[in-house]
Amino acid sequence: MDKATGLQELKDEMLADRSLPLTTNLVFGEGDPDGGVLFIGEAPGQMEDQLVRPFVGRSGQLLRKNIREVGWKEEEVYITNIVKRRPPDNRDPLPDEIEAYKPYLERQIEIINPRVIVPLGRFSMNYFLPEAKITRDQGKVFRSTRHLIVPMFHPAVALRNPAYMKEFQDNFKKLPKVVAQADKLLAERPLKKSSAVYKPVQKGLF
Ligand code: URA
Repeated sequence: MDKATGLQELKDEMLADRSLPLTTNLVFGEGDPDGGVLFIGEAPGQMEDQLVRPFVGRSGQLLRKNIREVGWKEEEVYITNIVKRRPPDNRDPLPDEIEAYKPYLERQIEIINPRVIVPLGRFSMNYFLPEAKITRDQGKVFRSTRHLIVPMFHPAVALRNPAYMKEFQDNFKKLPKVVAQADKLLAERPLKKSSAVYKPVQKGLF
């Protein structure tokens, strides 16, 4: 089955799943599943719910501007969230909500199978790296058997803090190099097949 069909089936399944928390529009994700890069935010906000597209409000504009500035097209990467419906009043997603949407995100990642995953913000980062701290670990490159993972500040946080904005933008500029080296790095020193744990990639490579 091709990726587009797999993703459509997954989306239909989510739409039919009455057990999922939150009742607003399902913002499934968009972009090119073959682009090799997957950005994962927290949850849709008001604008995302209205337009039924991820990252189209202020945070989204910052994300999309940085994607273009490194020479990519927005449509060439894939953008989604952990929780795919808007929590009321833009509150943080609750642990139960993250848990409920998790199996679907897992399958979405399985289908897309990106070489590089960029979690935006601590909720998304902690989904992959439960022990990581966003201020300490953003911009570092981790790997599992199948993906490199580069956590970054959530764009909303960058918008509120000029120092974080600089780090966000500097880290973004590293992404093309990470993508260019991903195949080599993932093939080079294979981790045990069973390893679900993400390990830091040698410092100084990027
Ligand atoms: N913030 C997110 O985490 N995701 C969106 O889609 C928009 C804002």
